[in-house]
Amino acid sequence: MRVVLMGPPGAGKGTQASRLVETFGMTHLSSGDIFRAEKASGSDLGQKLADYMTRGELVPDEIVVEMMAKAITNVDGGLLLDGFPRTVAQAEALDKTLEQADAPLDAVVVITADDEAIVDRITGRRSCPKCGKGFHVKFMPSEKGGYCDACDGEIELTQRGDDKEETVRQRLSAYKAQTEPVIDYYRKSDDVEVVEVDGMQSPEAVTKDMVAALEKLQG
Ligand code: AP5
Ligand code: MG
Repeated sequence: MRVVLMGPPGAGKGTQASRLVETFGMTHLSSGDIFRAEKASGSDLGQKLADYMTRGELVPDEIVVEMMAKAITNVDGGLLLDGFPRTVAQAEALDKTLEQADAPLDAVVVITADDEAIVDRITGRRSCPKCGKGFHVKFMPSEKGGYCDACDGEIELTQRGDDKEETVRQRLSAYKAQTEPVIDYYRKSDDVEVVEVDGMQSPEAVTKDMVAALEKLQG
């Protein structure tokens, strides 16, 4: 199954993706994670990506499409895309990439969330720089306080550079202006099912709804 996971910043795309891959055995590709890894490599490209990300702006389509096409063509089997496509031009480019691979998209799952909840979720988000596990200071705290419980409390949790309130609001406005039209793009397509899931529930309830929706699509 090939699925695009959409939703505003902080809707829970990353949280749910790591749960869904366990159930459905798909490969999770997060454009944001791929860009942060490029930045961590210290390359010029990574610095260029970081300049857009820290401002809360979208990275230009040409850069995104090239990097994501490369990552997608390396995946064999089920695919869960998180954060890509984010513009109609990216969605059109993805259609071409998947058409060439004879591997069409099955569904788009949109996780919805309210603006104020988004700000609370993102400003409280922490993650482990070693294993990547995600936490929230209030909603999903680590059993080891400010340290990662999956790494036996040895690794201190960190905050993403673009998780300040002002940047979150900029990311949210980029989502509304540039990414919401992508949902309509898919709604107009006859081949792709668009499913909406209420992201304001508990993480467990969101997972339950997503699993039910994907199982229904699998038939
Ligand atoms: P990206 O990394 O994709 O960030 P994003 O879309 O803004 O989404 P987030 O990762 O912030 O949120 P999420 O939905 O994954 O939520 P999470 O599960 O972590 O992109 C970052 C930047 O890269 C962009 O701004 C842009 O510059 C660039 N970029 C990336 N892709 C691009 C593209 N295609 N084109 C152009 N530019 C691109 O959850 C958030 C927090 O809430 C966590 O702490 C979690 O524990 C908590 N939480 C999750 N679910 C719940 C729940 N149900 N209840 C309570 N708390 C919850
Ligand atoms: Mg994410």
